[in-house]
Amino acid sequence: MTTHASETPSLFTPLFRTQLDQLFTWRRDVRHFRTDPVPDAVLDHLLHTACLSPSVGLSEPWRFVRVEHADRRAAIRANFARCNTQALSGHGGEDAQRYATLKLAGLDDAPHQIAVFCDTAPEQGRGLGRGTMPETTVWSAVMAIHTFWLAATAQGIGVGWVSILNPQQAASTLCVNPNWQFLAYLCVGYPQEQADTPELERKGWEQRNPARRQWIMR
Ligand SMILES: Cc1cc2nc3c(=O)[nH]c(=O)nc-3n(C[C@H](O)[C@H](O)[C@H](O)COP(=O)(O)O)c2cc1C
Repeated sequence: MTTHASETPSLFTPLFRTQLDQLFTWRRDVRHFRTDPVPDAVLDHLLHTACLSPSVGLSEPWRFVRVEHADRRAAIRANFARCNTQALSGHGGEDAQRYATLKLAGLDDAPHQIAVFCDTAPEQGRGLGRGTMPETTVWSAVMAIHTFWLAATAQGIGVGWVSILNPQQAASTLCVNPNWQFLAYLCVGYPQEQADTPELERKGWEQRNPARRQWIMR
């Protein structure tokens, strides 16, 4: 479907824009999940929405792997435990104590676990746009993750992005194509709580900056 500017000044109403702002404000990285599952049709819808994301040369290089098997989940859990112990040892004193209080994975409760990969050599798109910047395939796949995250928030579903993992071991656990680069391990489910500030801010680990500090003028 195509509309022309003379027919439709904007597809979106002021109410929609206000609600969209709320969506961005209330999207959270979620670590505390209820264990009841999200219906398959809703997960399918989230995937469909994620696939509307832009991609270099229309290459659609995102690959979403639903991790269902208990053995594979256990291997990812062990991968996280090893990496988290290593990360903890990199923090000293008070910092280490504070790190230890953070819940950095929702792996024990989240009913759904989705690993996201980027096909770094996709046939689709026929190479357009990535000759000088091959990393644009990864950026495209990350955009799909963000779209998935926002669409989930709109459905009242939480997403937690776990990156404290050894990516090669994660790829090996999930037996994927060698061209696929591991990007994210997403815990997905209904959140136990909702908040308009990041958990790391609430726990005193880090604070957000005022947005206007992010303008750099040249
Ligand atoms: C690329 C990426 C990797 C992340 N990895 C982790 C992680 O391993 N563990 C964790 O607790 N949070 C992780 N997060 C979530 C961030 O901590 C979170 O986005 C940030 O604190 C801001 O909170 P918010 O998403 O609720 O606004 C990750 C986020 C991104 C974008």
